[in-house]
Amino acid sequence: MFKKEIISLLSKEINLKPEQIENLIETPPNPEMGDYAFPCFALSKKLKKSPDKIAEKLFKKLKPTKEIEQIKPIGPYLNFFINKKELAKQIIKINANFGKTNLGKGKKIAIDFSAPNIGKPMHIGHIRSTIIGDSLMRTYNFLGYNPIGINYLGDVGLHIGKLIVAYELWLNKKNLKKNPVNELLNLYVKFNAKEKTNPKLTEQAKEKLKKFELGDLKTEKIWENIRKVSAESFNKIYEMLNINFHETIGQSQFSDKGKQIVINALEQKIAKREPDQAVYVLLDGKKKFILRSNQTASYITQDLGAAVSRFKKYKFDKMIYVTDFRQKQHFDSLFSLLKAMKYDFADKLVHLTFGAVKFGKEIMATRKGQIILLQDVLNKTIEKARKEIKKRKTKGDKTKVGIGAIKYIILKNEPAKDVQFSWEQALSFEGNTGPYLQYSYARASSIIKKAKKTKAKISNHLTKEEIALIKKISLFPEIVERAGKLMNPSLIANYSHELAQTFNEFYHSNKVIGNKNQTFRLKLVQAFRTCLKNSLYLLGIEVMEEM
Ligand code: ARG
Repeated sequence: MFKKEIISLLSKEINLKPEQIENLIETPPNPEMGDYAFPCFALSKKLKKSPDKIAEKLFKKLKPTKEIEQIKPIGPYLNFFINKKELAKQIIKINANFGKTNLGKGKKIAIDFSAPNIGKPMHIGHIRSTIIGDSLMRTYNFLGYNPIGINYLGDVGLHIGKLIVAYELWLNKKNLKKNPVNELLNLYVKFNAKEKTNPKLTEQAKEKLKKFELGDLKTEKIWENIRKVSAESFNKIYEMLNINFHETIGQSQFSDKGKQIVINALEQKIAKREPDQAVYVLLDGKKKFILRSNQTASYITQDLGAAVSRFKKYKFDKMIYVTDFRQKQHFDSLFSLLKAMKYDFADKLVHLTFGAVKFGKEIMATRKGQIILLQDVLNKTIEKARKEIKKRKTKGDKTKVGIGAIKYIILKNEPAKDVQFSWEQALSFEGNTGPYLQYSYARASSIIKKAKKTKAKISNHLTKEEIALIKKISLFPEIVERAGKLMNPSLIANYSHELAQTFNEFYHSNKVIGNKNQTFRLKLVQAFRTCLKNSLYLLGIEVMEEM
């Protein structure tokens, strides 16, 4: 919070943008050297002076303020000491709005996330997009943006052609009634197995797809049934995860719009036709196909249509597609195509990629036909949470603990990195885990509940642990801002962990109830609770008052 004050002090004296100053400011390795340090190396070249001299010169110019009580040059650094008592005063006043800003006021951010394919159950591959996307939605909302969540269902494509063919050939109606998602998966697995020795099946699937696109009623009826069954199973998962979208819309809705864009591109000579009638655009000397030879729309055709339609509808300032890293090329091409077709909004599009979720040996139990079903993973986690709660004889809601554990293990990893998933790690009540954070919150709640209320007064001497906690809480607004800017919820996750750790260290060596500083310490515990609750809210993790 006081960092802003330092930036404003410095920006009056040096010729750097506030943002550049912010990026340069460091935290000294030892708090005795100061709370913040500004390294002068970057200025040295420009000013043709040694960094030590620059620090000295800045020191002479800058005057301490109410919030920054001391400024001190140490070698090439200019160090700042914040007024801890003043900071403490502000921290104990924080409320549920702590960390909220209007940074993004009037700006729309569309987020394309989750986006499973119908006909197949949601699998572990969808979990990161779903959870990261939801956390970004919450974060941008907090920062004052207007985020729009879009779930772009994969309701068309060769996999759908295959499934419809399989449905007509082998459907077991009884099984469809009993366990629809399972029956569809069986059909799909069977098709893929038979296709290997019978390439005619693949041709049939392509034909089906074409029929579907031309509006064949019989095909459409089967498709509608598949869509309905899938949507129901997806919704069950979204409900469990407490995730909502502004818009859920199928890829198939954009085939026509996409084809229209292809035709425009042909007319403008941006696109060309092959002798077999397939249409392509040359990107960096390579042919990128945007329409199949049988004139059906492909994944990229629909994405072209969807992007143009969405910009028309929302006039977004930014659109983020959250998918697996394996789609990098697809999105690179999509963005280049839109640029080549002179759509100005192309530079507002970003692709946020993430790595894989890796399981240890436990993987086999939930594997069905090569995929790990998300529903199975969620059920198993909640069941394990129930056992863990029972074993520890604690209170706590198994669903909140289980879902929180899953969300946390996903979000604590930087999107670009793989997630090493293990139930043991996800559900541990110690370490960098969801349950540890929820438990810390409940502990703070119980302290507050036990104590009798009195007025807050800040003692003249703040302990080392009190200062550490106050400072940690004060970082929250910056962290949220950075997480939004970098589209990286792991910053908020790991901050939450550091915050809980700092609180637990404080609590171990600073008696709260019955201490002469009880009033102030209770307020501090309360501030910690507020901050952790907000932080976990941004991760989509629910807290409990008792655990
Ligand atoms: N349905 C796709 C999949 O499961 C992801 C879609 C991502 N969004 C998009 N606009 N292409 O891989």
